[in-house]
Amino acid sequence: MKRSDVFDMTSQTLWESRKYEEAFGKTISKEERPAFHLSPRTGWMNDPNGLCWYGGKYHLFYQYYPYDTHWGPMHWGHAVSRDLLHWTHLPAALAPDEVYDRDGCFSGNALKLSDGRQLLMYTGVVRERQANGGYAEIQTQCLAVGDGIDYIKYEKNPVLSEKDLPEGCSRHDFRDPKLWRETDGTYRCIIGNRSADGSGQILLFSSTDGFQWHYKKVLAANHNRFGKMWECPDFFFLDGKWVLLTSPQDMMPSGFEYHNGNGTLCLIGNYDRETEDFTEESDQSVDYGIDFYAPQTILTQDGRRVMIGWMQNWDTCSHRGTHERGWFGQMSLPRELSLKNGRLYQTPIRELESMRQNKVFHKNVTVAGQVVLEGIQGRKIDMEVTVRPEEGCDLYRKFAIRFAQNDQYHTSLGFRPHESVLKIDRKFSGSRRAIIHQRRCKVNHQDGQLKLRIILDRFSVEAFVNDGEQVLSAVLYTEQEADGISFIADGTVNIDVVKYDLA
Ligand code: FRU
Repeated sequence: MKRSDVFDMTSQTLWESRKYEEAFGKTISKEERPAFHLSPRTGWMNDPNGLCWYGGKYHLFYQYYPYDTHWGPMHWGHAVSRDLLHWTHLPAALAPDEVYDRDGCFSGNALKLSDGRQLLMYTGVVRERQANGGYAEIQTQCLAVGDGIDYIKYEKNPVLSEKDLPEGCSRHDFRDPKLWRETDGTYRCIIGNRSADGSGQILLFSSTDGFQWHYKKVLAANHNRFGKMWECPDFFFLDGKWVLLTSPQDMMPSGFEYHNGNGTLCLIGNYDRETEDFTEESDQSVDYGIDFYAPQTILTQDGRRVMIGWMQNWDTCSHRGTHERGWFGQMSLPRELSLKNGRLYQTPIRELESMRQNKVFHKNVTVAGQVVLEGIQGRKIDMEVTVRPEEGCDLYRKFAIRFAQNDQYHTSLGFRPHESVLKIDRKFSGSRRAIIHQRRCKVNHQDGQLKLRIILDRFSVEAFVNDGEQVLSAVLYTEQEADGISFIADGTVNIDVVKYDLA
């Protein structure tokens, strides 16, 4: 089929969104966007969708409403990249234009079929009138097939609906398929759902051809432990274990874990490929900052497991400050995953290192009070800071790094070694809203020695603690002129700082 034939078959709704994004996308300059975090071509973005390798490029789709910077009927935006850092927008891939998805094409995934075509699986949403006059969403799973630019929805959609579910499984909360191919060539997918008591669960389905799907079993059940509905699951083998990622809604904090309302949960355990049973061994938060949700992972061509999340929090979408730029929502850095000592570790994708320029290195700097270091500033930077007590001095009470700083604004990372607590605080980042601006987490350190790698990209900070043992992510809409960085100690510390500009 020629591309023009495919395009002729796309709907008016999709065609209009493509015209719109082409016209309005041009009005947003490069400088008004993050430099190496994907942002929507225009309008609103939430979850990453369909992260896959196809046609010699990484493809990343996303939940998209092109016409406004607020959530609306979901389309799928589309972008491609060779390094997961530099992205080119492509035309919108899906629009809500069929009877079974007229109220939204929700999250889903993609893979390459054995005949070379690209398969998208997504959740179709229809709002159905209820007896009480209100509306309830009906969610089903749908397919579209394409060539990496244009997609045709499958004529037998939906391929999974209420009738495929065992009794008690919700038809209202049944969304976000994640696909993979087994070594025998058959397909699997997992989908978020709720059991009869309203608690989240992840359902497993199988298919021999990617088109006809059958229910297999409950892969994992919440039993009302971690929030309620479990959204956006992902499941993969990593360093000898199996990892289930899911993003629960409405979580209760437990100690220093799960403070984000809606956040991302990591369950580590074992998976029996014969019986397809997953046995959990441990759980942890995936991100200890404020903004991270609904990640998807990919196995790169060279075998690295890389994760990208939506760098936003549903509860703080009103944290816009002066951010009126025609786009809202951005993806996190791609993060390489590994398991160490039973915990999930994350490090910035190594391709970031090839963007480093202008190295500035300060070694063995004594800080008591506040210092500014020559050459250490910027809003697109990769900076590693190691802090330790100054030799011969008592353990310091607090060490803080302020960034995105000028006379009016700053955001900080503050560490109190006596409590082993690291805090991110963006109260003074320019926000005018009474929303969550702080988050604390427990970190490991040896007698006050801590390592932080901080990545800034215009509108965000991602802090990697102790070589990836924990990550804290937050968006900040502080004006770009605020590019100062300072180091503050209550007590006396000794620090090493290495900083690169990212370009
Ligand atoms: C998660 C989510 C998904 C859903 C999508 C809708 O952020 O709620 O469960 O598919 O967003 O945009």
